[in-house]
Amino acid sequence: MTDALTALLTRRSTSVKDMRPPAPNEAELAQILTVATRVPDHGKLCPWRIVILKGEGALKLGEIAAERFTANNPDATPPHIAAEHARFTRAPLCLAVLSTPILGTKPVWEQELSAGAVCTNILHAAHALGYGAKWLTEWVAYDAAITAALTLKITPSAQADAAHTRIAGFVYLGTKTTETDDRERPKLEDVVGEW
Ligand SMILES: Cc1cc2nc3c(=O)[nH]c(=O)nc-3n(C[C@H](O)[C@H](O)[C@H](O)COP(=O)(O)O)c2cc1C
Repeated sequence: MTDALTALLTRRSTSVKDMRPPAPNEAELAQILTVATRVPDHGKLCPWRIVILKGEGALKLGEIAAERFTANNPDATPPHIAAEHARFTRAPLCLAVLSTPILGTKPVWEQELSAGAVCTNILHAAHALGYGAKWLTEWVAYDAAITAALTLKITPSAQADAAHTRIAGFVYLGTKTTETDDRERPKLEDVVGEW
């Protein structure tokens, strides 16, 4: 395990094409999920849910993606459709993070930020354990049928408002086949002000 500051300073995304099995094992996944759910959360609402996508489940969701893609793109070619079917199995593991705000409590924006923090924590935990990870939305994150299918797999909070459930992202994880070069990071003077 890498020390915390080194991990935070070195995390970078790994492309899904540079991931291969094995996925994090059961104990590691439990750690990743524990870190994922240890996020700032105004009102302690847990306004997010995580769906684990692997194997058959990932392929089933991929079937829905392929159907939706075909419906939205009548000229879709068989290779494109096959790629959509395999979308969620491109990496050994995919975690879908849903934002499930509870209306009438804390501002929805704050609850959505908390869902984003879940995604970020997954990335950091995966990196600390030596795995590659990448947070993607792509068209599927904005598709109503995909959102509805994932919503079926979560335990809703009693007060959750399904109409406001959104996909914060799909975080793909796997063993890195290569070390990705880091990208240029922003200069602090460009993004930090002082009052
Ligand atoms: C909410 C969100 C959605 C993203 N969706 C995509 C995406 O659909 N496709 C993509 O190539 N990168 C996407 N990214 C960017 C990558 O996750 C990653 O941040 C980027 O490649 C920069 O790499 P880094 O994490 O090493 O800084 C998204 C990032 C965020 C925060």
